[in-house]
Amino acid sequence: MCGIVGYIGHREAYPIVINGLRRLEYRGYDSAGIALYDGKNIQLSKTKGKVADLEKRADSEISKKGSLGIGHTRWATHGVPNDVNSHPHYSNSGNLVIIHNGIIENYSSIKTELINRGYTFKSDTDTEVLVNLIEEVKKKQDVKLGKAVQIALNEVVGAYAIAVFDKNKPDEIVVAKLGSPLAIGVGDDEFFIASDASPFIEFTNNAIYLEDEEMAIIRRGRDIKIRQIKSDKLVKPFVQELKLNIEQIEKGGYDHFMLKEIYEQPSVIKDTYRGRLLADKGIIKLGGLEEYIPKFINADRIIIVACGTSWHAGLVAEYIFEDLARIPVEVEYASEFRYRNPIITENDVVIAISQSGETADTLAAIKLAKEKGAFVYGICNVVGSTISRETHSGTYTHAGPEIGVASTKAFTTQITVLTMIALKLAQVKGTISKSDYMMHLRELDMIPTHVAAALKSNDKIEEIAAVFKNATNFLYLGRGYNFPVALEGALKLKEISYIHAEGYPAAEMKHGPIALIDEHMPVVVIAINSNHYGKVVSNIEEIKARKGKIIAVVTEGDTVVRELADYVMEVPKTPESLTPLVTTIPLQLLSYHIAVMLNKNVDQPRNLAKSVTVE
Ligand code: AGP
Repeated sequence: MCGIVGYIGHREAYPIVINGLRRLEYRGYDSAGIALYDGKNIQLSKTKGKVADLEKRADSEISKKGSLGIGHTRWATHGVPNDVNSHPHYSNSGNLVIIHNGIIENYSSIKTELINRGYTFKSDTDTEVLVNLIEEVKKKQDVKLGKAVQIALNEVVGAYAIAVFDKNKPDEIVVAKLGSPLAIGVGDDEFFIASDASPFIEFTNNAIYLEDEEMAIIRRGRDIKIRQIKSDKLVKPFVQELKLNIEQIEKGGYDHFMLKEIYEQPSVIKDTYRGRLLADKGIIKLGGLEEYIPKFINADRIIIVACGTSWHAGLVAEYIFEDLARIPVEVEYASEFRYRNPIITENDVVIAISQSGETADTLAAIKLAKEKGAFVYGICNVVGSTISRETHSGTYTHAGPEIGVASTKAFTTQITVLTMIALKLAQVKGTISKSDYMMHLRELDMIPTHVAAALKSNDKIEEIAAVFKNATNFLYLGRGYNFPVALEGALKLKEISYIHAEGYPAAEMKHGPIALIDEHMPVVVIAINSNHYGKVVSNIEEIKARKGKIIAVVTEGDTVVRELADYVMEVPKTPESLTPLVTTIPLQLLSYHIAVMLNKNVDQPRNLAKSVTVE
């Protein structure tokens, strides 16, 4: 998830583009770049690092002249964060310049084709492939920039929001969108382009939001032409008046980054399996895993090392790897594992899970495992992070920047990746039937829809939060796949509301925690349709017998638990092995609303850091 900005009009573009990039930095901040055009010379400056680093570099590198400009702040997906991989990218001739937010899935086959036609590439990015494809189309078919962009985009698969201009057309910028956001600010005799309106809201409240598979040719001092990329049909621009302020927009209109990130889960889960899960074809392909499948299949065991929420994702993986792929799994707190002198052999596979990719304890656990000869596979959200470089191979979650300290979308995208790995190994090992495998792929493909449905209970959950916001303790209970979710729910509440909470396997309650239960103890029970349903119902009756207040997460249409519980939070039906991806949602929202009602700093809770880079 990157940030793109563009301007064409009568003002100097540099300050508008730079300021816009600063506003979009929450979207990605590992490298930045700008290109300006004054009709004669293109001035391009780009660098690894933050927008502030770009400003320093631009001061010494470019004249900052030009009333046409495009800029980019990056969240790397293809190619590690460095100067050459940062945007904008030139085409081979130097005539075309592009910025891009998204992922071109079939870029490597296009790249091979272009190389056979004599093109050369400076970066590892999919974006540089796209701008050269546009150049090739323009040259071979002798068409204008707009047409060339349209033809090229009909050849690519993936997500994009792009802005591209041509040295030979100083009064035109072409933009296009599929999957990634793109807003066009309509001013007096000037146009602004951006991933959201925050870069131009101070100049105009009039914005056009391009729909998927639409492109626009924006000409200086002229009107804007919008077309459907596939059908070529002209589209009447729909200009809407925005009633938002900057701060709100960065949060996408949400009060907090955490709530925004909770609501981003349907799209980022889709982004995480985009191009990797082809459910109708029964295909799972993970670039980093393919060549190492034998290592996983022949491993004595899989050891998962992580911290905090990532450790909870590891616990969910233990259930699915053992259940579907029949591979023994051990889940370790990285901080304990690194000092426990653990027994590790070269027949072990270690999976290290980390959102930030910088957590010190997890990093140390990785180093220890490598020293002892194990194969180490990373699951990270930050491209180019230390852990992604330290591991032998890995898979990135595509959650985009997670700014709220309390991890939400990283958790569900980690589980999405781990589920795809387990299903892939189960299919290769033959420990899952063809029909069960296909069912799981179809159901995983449905998860974004189910998560969106679970989010619809937000108002109801807010009411439940109001009832329990003054509780001093909470108990969270779950069984099987949902025991780790109970732990995660408790952690979320602790982190942001500072209320003490404990997660427990529901059956374990009788061995102690049940002593805590009375009419003042809210107990959150995950009671979805599962092999354990009957047993969870008994646990609820045991709590009720001690006057405990029961908040139950149930499957839509549940009738039994609804009669027993004081409050229910519904989630759509999905196979048990995928339920953590939906049962987590109401628990995230419950903790969020309680913390807001207690006036806590939800995005930056006390005593916590987004990435714990020290021991
Ligand atoms: C979770 O909400 C916390 N921010 C924290 O427990 C976090 O999960 C832990 O520090 C691990 O971070 P990582 O995933 O970046 O390694």
